[in-house]
Amino acid sequence: MLTREEAIAAAERAAAAFSAEQAIAIRDVVVKDAGVSMTVQIADEAQRSALEGALREALERAGAETVHLRFRAGDAPAGGAHGAAAGGSGGAAAGRAAGGQPAAGARPHRGPGAAPPPSPLLREGSGVEFIAVASGKGGVGKSTVTVNLAVALARKGKRVGIIDADIYGFSVPDMMGIEERPNVENERVIPIERFGVKVISMGFFVEDNAPIVWRGPMLGKMLRNFFAEIEWGELDYMLLDLPPGTGDVALDVHQMIPHSKEIIVTTPHATAAFVAARAGAMAIKTEHEILGVVENMSYYVSRNGEIDYVFGRGGGAKLAEQLNTDLLAQIPLGAPDNHPSEPDFSPSVYKEDSAAGKLYAEVADRVIAKCGK
Ligand SMILES: Nc1ncnc2c1ncn2[C@@H]1O[C@H](COP(=O)(O)OP(=O)(O)OP(=O)(O)O)[C@@H](O)[C@H]1O
Ligand SMILES: [Mg+2]
Repeated sequence: MLTREEAIAAAERAAAAFSAEQAIAIRDVVVKDAGVSMTVQIADEAQRSALEGALREALERAGAETVHLRFRAGDAPAGGAHGAAAGGSGGAAAGRAAGGQPAAGARPHRGPGAAPPPSPLLREGSGVEFIAVASGKGGVGKSTVTVNLAVALARKGKRVGIIDADIYGFSVPDMMGIEERPNVENERVIPIERFGVKVISMGFFVEDNAPIVWRGPMLGKMLRNFFAEIEWGELDYMLLDLPPGTGDVALDVHQMIPHSKEIIVTTPHATAAFVAARAGAMAIKTEHEILGVVENMSYYVSRNGEIDYVFGRGGGAKLAEQLNTDLLAQIPLGAPDNHPSEPDFSPSVYKEDSAAGKLYAEVADRVIAKCGK
């Protein structure tokens, strides 16, 4: 059976034979069931089809039954053929792959099937406080809470990271107004820093918002890559924005970071709180400490100051009681007062001096007090 190393070697040899003058980068090589896929970067687009033929032939000769090549335009950084792109002279959206196929962990030659080495971040005693933000239902504001709590902690001088663990439904980059893509240095991906928070998201590694089509087991590997292959540096807090519900990713997080703490987000509606209780029950079962409940979209303050409990009342408090934890905050309805013309525009980050911004600062204080750091 063709191995990944053999596929890389065959492709490299074919690329070197094809052109001695121009660097051709071979990246994101995945070998599965005798099927090979890879990303190829060549500056001269006119030579693509000839190169494709040469690579295809070489890979088939090496034993590949199917060959899938994704071509990317642009100069491969100097340093030879395969892997050169990873060395990353910066700027290029390193690790992104065409066609909606994520470039696993953004590291060249590590296909999504390969198990990355364990990350020092995950070791107990690493000093990083992990906080997973969970809910039972979708759309209650997990991502909004994650992003704003992270920014609030950073405003208090903490070193904070966010892992957008919603692999299929990533939204953190958009919410924070991040448009750039991470660079790679020394084969490690540098997270994007925004509002003092380091961020990594699947959104950085798919092209054109393409849908992601992996099945369960791949998700766990991707999540591991988010720890192992990212240059996080030193952190005080790592927030994980979970997908809704108690599915695969939530389970992976539970297994991968047994010492993670949790914040449960709900709306004030009784049904939402009832469903959120399931996420809470899972946290309890897996012995994750629940830091508290954030009730989001709690009320609406009209222009003349009247409070309207649009989605009902009491869900957050009831849930906190049920889970034997605290209600950390009740965040009102209302989008941040941000305008796209502002230099640091983000659709979802509340300004420090806004009502919601101050509430998130209080949540940050409570979290810091509870975590003791
Ligand atoms: N307090 C709020 N006031 C007004 N809009 C809000 C508030 N909180 C969140 N939203 C909006 O509600 C929508 C859902 O929020 P968000 O994406 O944070 O929820 P989620 O729980 O992460 O959703 P998903 O389950 O899809 O991941 C977003 O459009 C967000 O901007
Ligand atoms: Mg979300």
